[in-house]
Amino acid sequence: MGNKKGDNTGKALAEAMNGLLADSFALYLKTKNFHWHVAGPHFREYHLLLDDHATQILAITDAVAERVRKNGHRTLTSIGDIARRQSISDNDKSGVAAEAMLKELRDDNIAFVAKLRAVKELAGQAGDNATDGMVDDWTDQAQERAWFLGETLGK
Ligand SMILES: [Fe+2]
Repeated sequence: MGNKKGDNTGKALAEAMNGLLADSFALYLKTKNFHWHVAGPHFREYHLLLDDHATQILAITDAVAERVRKNGHRTLTSIGDIARRQSISDNDKSGVAAEAMLKELRDDNIAFVAKLRAVKELAGQAGDNATDGMVDDWTDQAQERAWFLGETLGK
C-alpha cells in the first residue's frame, strides 16, 4: 500500500472525480431537458445544438467512472448517489425562455471547467498522469460548449 500522503491524495482525487461524474450526469440531463423543452423561433437550431452537447457530456461519464475504479476506489451507484453529490443544480421549471436556458447552460459549463481544474490539480498531486491528460480534453470540450452557448446568445 502507498504511504499515508499518497492514500489521502488518491482519496481526495476519487471524491473529486465522483463529484465530477455527478455533475456530468446532472449537466447531461439538464441539457437534454432543455433540448426537449426549448421553444421559439430558434427551436431547430437550439434543439440540435443542445443534443450535440448532451451527447458530448454523456460520452465522458464512463471514462470518469472507470478512472476512479482503476485507482481502486468506488464510484457512483445510482440516481440518488448523483443527487447527493451534484453541485450543478437541476432546473425543473416549466416555461423557461430559450435564451435563459442557453445562459444557464453556459454558466454551468463554465462551472464544470472550474471543477475540471480542481480535478487536474488533485490528479497532479496524486501522480495520476492518465487522469491529468484526459482532463485536458474534457476541459477543451466544456470550454467549446460554453463558447458556442455564449456566442449563440451574442454575449
Ligand atoms: Fe432528441
